[in-house]
Amino acid sequence: MSNADVSHQSTPAPASTTTTGETEETVRESWRTYDVTGEPAVAVEDLNVHYGDDHALKDVSMDIPEESVTALIGPSGCGKSTFLRCLNRMNDRIKAARIDGSVEVGGEEIYQDGVDLVELRKRVGMVFQAPNPFPKSIRENVSYGPRKHGDLDTSLLSRLLGRDDAEAEEALVEQCLRDAALYEEVADRLEDNALGLSGGQQQRLCIARALAVDPDVLLMDEPASALDPIATAKIEDLIGELAEDYTVVVVTHNMQQAARISDQTAVFLTGGELVEYGDTDQVFESPESQRVEDYITGKFG
Ligand SMILES: Nc1ncnc2c1ncn2[C@@H]1O[C@H](COP(=O)(O)OP(=O)(O)O)[C@@H](O)[C@H]1O
Ligand SMILES: [Mg+2]
Repeated sequence: MSNADVSHQSTPAPASTTTTGETEETVRESWRTYDVTGEPAVAVEDLNVHYGDDHALKDVSMDIPEESVTALIGPSGCGKSTFLRCLNRMNDRIKAARIDGSVEVGGEEIYQDGVDLVELRKRVGMVFQAPNPFPKSIRENVSYGPRKHGDLDTSLLSRLLGRDDAEAEEALVEQCLRDAALYEEVADRLEDNALGLSGGQQQRLCIARALAVDPDVLLMDEPASALDPIATAKIEDLIGELAEDYTVVVVTHNMQQAARISDQTAVFLTGGELVEYGDTDQVFESPESQRVEDYITGKFG
């Protein structure tokens, strides 16, 4: 508290604003340095992303603690999705994207030759804004990843050879659906097509599908923004529970949601800059940056 007061007093009265209405200020390193106890689950250093000539992320460094919820907030176009996609090299799929810098997951550099991207995306799963279940049964959606990776073998041949993993699949599907707070609602219709579920159920199924390959980190890009308030509340509760076992990094443009669900909050502002990063209570109650305060209080964005 007192720290923030002091730094506010020592900040010169902000007069000029940018074209987007943001106060001009020089970002201080201390605003975005956050001391993580223990080894960070994800350590980002000097990350820069260009799309052609567009510099979408500028010198972002950020340590993300394990088994907690880290929220990424900021106005549209400030680079939140770009940042999230860097954490499991999804930006590799975008031709125009050039990525410089370092990202370590569990202490291992993911931007180096020889990294197995399939393995990486098992460790760092992703859930998108619009639920995207496969047009398959609920069961097959959950067991899809483990089967693809060869962790479950339920083929007819295996069954004939007596190496059937059907029981293991049964247990895995149930466990993942339970962990995604969906099991009770679908237990009696696991063979039904997933597309028949409500939007909120589909999103929880996508979370169950992501959990099935046993990730360490779960990335979520506005996972509730396409859902009604009741479905949103379920996803919010679920995120809190998941953080007991996983490192959750969630983009949201809903500030109340970030304040409710996260342990740490990172605020990105126009130009792809990480401006402030710290404990969620501190960022929302006594932000160091005038621009972050203006953003949080709804003065722009
Ligand atoms: N696939 C892409 N190709 C080119 N430019 C992109 C692409 N994705 C994002 N951008 C640009 O990068 C900037 C950041 O976008 P994005 O990461 O989607 O922001 P946010 O998720 O915060 O809204 C924007 O200027 C956007 O136009
Ligand atoms: Mg986005």
